[in-house]
Amino acid sequence: MTSTTLRSTSAAKVKADVLVVGVQSEGDALVAADGAADVAEAFGSGFAEMLRSLGATSRPGDVSKLPGGTATRAAVVVVAGLGKSGTLDEESLRRAAGAAVRASGGAKTVALALPASTDEQIRAVVEGALLGAYTYDRYLTKKADRVGAVVVLTERARTRAAQDTAQAAQVVSDAVNFSRDLVNMPPNDLYPQSFADELKARARGSKVTLEVLDETTLLSRGYGGIMGVGQGSARQPRLARLSYRPAKASAHIALVGKGITFDSGGLSIKSGAGMTTMKCDMAGAAAVSAAVFAIAELGLPVRVTGYACLAENMPSGQAARPGDVLTMYGGKTVEVLNTDAEGRLVLADGISTATADKPDVILDVATLTGACMIALGRNTAGVFSNDDDLHKELPAVAERAGERMWPMPIPDEMRDLVRTTKIADLSQHNPDPWGGALFAAAFLREFVGEGIPWAHIDIAGPAFNEGAPAGYTPKGGTGSAVRTLIQLAVERAR
Ligand code: BES
Ligand code: ZN
Ligand code: MN
Repeated sequence: MTSTTLRSTSAAKVKADVLVVGVQSEGDALVAADGAADVAEAFGSGFAEMLRSLGATSRPGDVSKLPGGTATRAAVVVVAGLGKSGTLDEESLRRAAGAAVRASGGAKTVALALPASTDEQIRAVVEGALLGAYTYDRYLTKKADRVGAVVVLTERARTRAAQDTAQAAQVVSDAVNFSRDLVNMPPNDLYPQSFADELKARARGSKVTLEVLDETTLLSRGYGGIMGVGQGSARQPRLARLSYRPAKASAHIALVGKGITFDSGGLSIKSGAGMTTMKCDMAGAAAVSAAVFAIAELGLPVRVTGYACLAENMPSGQAARPGDVLTMYGGKTVEVLNTDAEGRLVLADGISTATADKPDVILDVATLTGACMIALGRNTAGVFSNDDDLHKELPAVAERAGERMWPMPIPDEMRDLVRTTKIADLSQHNPDPWGGALFAAAFLREFVGEGIPWAHIDIAGPAFNEGAPAGYTPKGGTGSAVRTLIQLAVERAR
């Protein structure tokens, strides 16, 4: 794992393999950002012209490389865009740090001389750098070169507050990277039991207690949703319960994650192209699990219970059929009409279970619907809720954590549609595809206990990056929602 240290050395004097400095635009000119003045000075009057000839820009996420020469003690200088001079937000800083570290190509030591005069800026630089340093090389015979150490230059290096901030940013980044690892793991090796094993390994030595329900227990306790979805697979379903219970807790947060380790669609099978990325369908469970471990590691005075609803959705002679009726945990019956709408079935069991603990709030996180991606694109998660305050709170919490979430409605007619089947209590699928994300949310709401504020976060878009890496976001698993869940716990702990 990449280490982080804060140092108050000046940019030109720091010893590192790569030195990162920021530039901002002032009219047509590029100027050194805070923290980079002495480097610009050491390069001399030709600095701005050199940047121009290299094609450097001030766009956050854009980087250019130049030789350090005699101006710095680093062999390579990475110049990172930080927007317009006089305007700097933390997310630009996070992106710039991430892109710069990615451009450093596995250098042993990367020193960042970016603006870091407040704790919020220090947090952004550390998070951006550690998230940008992520690589997934478990299956490469030749391992990638990893960035060994990140050194953040700040005049606040010796303050307690800055050190605590950097430490917390490291915990948050490690959690995001843990969740990325789970998502990137191929589905032949990551199935319900091995997912639970990964959690067991992570729980060792932590303040989190893990309980894993196997298929026998799930069957005997009436987990019809999780069992129904998993019954087509040779790999048996699991429900993992992660619990963090500090002595003094100001609130109890329940987190429920969709953990479909592979979604083939089941008998309502997907197209070949439609299932190529479906190892990512456990990203909700990964996010929830990673967040519980991080909240515990931060020692926040908030009780958190996480549920990872784990199953593999496969077609076979044992698979659930369209037309089947499942009896969910808690007793409600559901008519299954499309086995590819499996996420809501496993989540329903998870939400009902969470309800029994009577938490102050329930959040579920899921790569639930393609419809949500159609509505909000690849980078924004949809937030649905039964509570106006929570519905407003979550997108704002997400923004403070550097993630994008947007409020989505659950129109009244969706309640009727969910309840129209004559065969069972609830219908799992609306044959009219319009508003598919809204119908799914209305279905989940049926399983939330009376009076408990609940929100559903659909991360189908942002969970998995099929395109090129950008900023601090790699290809593949992104760790979507992890930072928001931790941020919520931080804010509820106050
Ligand atoms: N896991 C998918 C949703 C998904 C699609 C996530 C693309 C990430 C990227 C989910 O289980 C699914 O198949 N949903 C169906 C629902 C439909 C059958 C009502 C969908 O979106 O098509
Ligand atoms: Zn799915
Ligand atoms: Mn599906």
